[in-house]
Amino acid sequence: VTRIGVLTSGGDAPGMNAAVRAVVRTGIYHGLEVYAVMRGYQGMIENDIVKMESRSVANIIQRGGTILKTARSKEFFTPEGRKKAYENLKSHGINGLIVVGGDGSFNGALKFSEEFDIPCIGLPGTIDKDIAGSDFTIGFDTAVNTAIDAIDKIRDTADAHDRLFIIEVMGRDAGYIALHSGVATGAEHVLIPEHKTDIDEVINSLQEKEKRKKLMNLIVVAEGDEFGGGEQVTKYIKEKLPNADIKITVLGHIQRGGSPTCADRILASRMGYHAVLCLMEGRNNVMVGIVNDQMHYTPLSKAVKAKQQIDEDWFDMIKILAS
Ligand code: F6P
Repeated sequence: VTRIGVLTSGGDAPGMNAAVRAVVRTGIYHGLEVYAVMRGYQGMIENDIVKMESRSVANIIQRGGTILKTARSKEFFTPEGRKKAYENLKSHGINGLIVVGGDGSFNGALKFSEEFDIPCIGLPGTIDKDIAGSDFTIGFDTAVNTAIDAIDKIRDTADAHDRLFIIEVMGRDAGYIALHSGVATGAEHVLIPEHKTDIDEVINSLQEKEKRKKLMNLIVVAEGDEFGGGEQVTKYIKEKLPNADIKITVLGHIQRGGSPTCADRILASRMGYHAVLCLMEGRNNVMVGIVNDQMHYTPLSKAVKAKQQIDEDWFDMIKILAS
């Protein structure tokens, strides 16, 4: 490769900027020209492509969001859209592409590199951590720490009023933010899409706690849980426990923003650095991951939409620790 493109796509995630910085500076160090494709695949289709210099990525390692901007492009999922995108890359002489994004973005990259002669490397950038082939994804650690910070604050007021709080966190298909933030804040229950919850057992346990005057309880719900998120769960519990003082907080998009944590900056820097080396070594269609602290390369086809198994013992543990 001689000229590479880098883009961020799908939901933004804190640490994407650190990844872009690593790609740009590693590429330039090795004598490559590096181009930023703005607004994900949409910018590729609209030829919104700019040449990057080392200084273009100054002062961004600590910033949330993505200076390249991002989008969820529907047009890229049509053959015409991908053809336009390919012609634009060709017009700039770009012959390698690095995509920072989640499963939707990897599906796009996969299709694109099957159709055209441009090797693609994926970097897992999503707060959801729902990608196979990496222990962590860029943005997860920051998002979960933001959630913890908020839930700790809710705990203060919940305790003061002896209230039951339902807290909805992000994750429309994945429960990792809920699971990790729930355990880390000592929540009584965690409801996630990957695990079937016996909601009546939750009610029974709340009733039992009520009897022994433990009225402050936290329930963390992933937005994509089997009952349809926090509102639905709250409605159901209110019906069953009409005398309980119940509040709901939906944390929403604050979980996507903010300055990346140390873990996310390092993850993103390592992945961005190795993504460029991958292209230089002639790899195609792989995702760069880190497993057990070692670089790990997974075919993009295997990285997408990994419904990961969550061990039952997480839930046994939550029950025991919050009893
Ligand atoms: O995939 C990241 C994520 O933040 C999910 O957790 C959430 O369900 C979704 O994106 C929200 O997407 P949008 O910002 O487009 O509403």
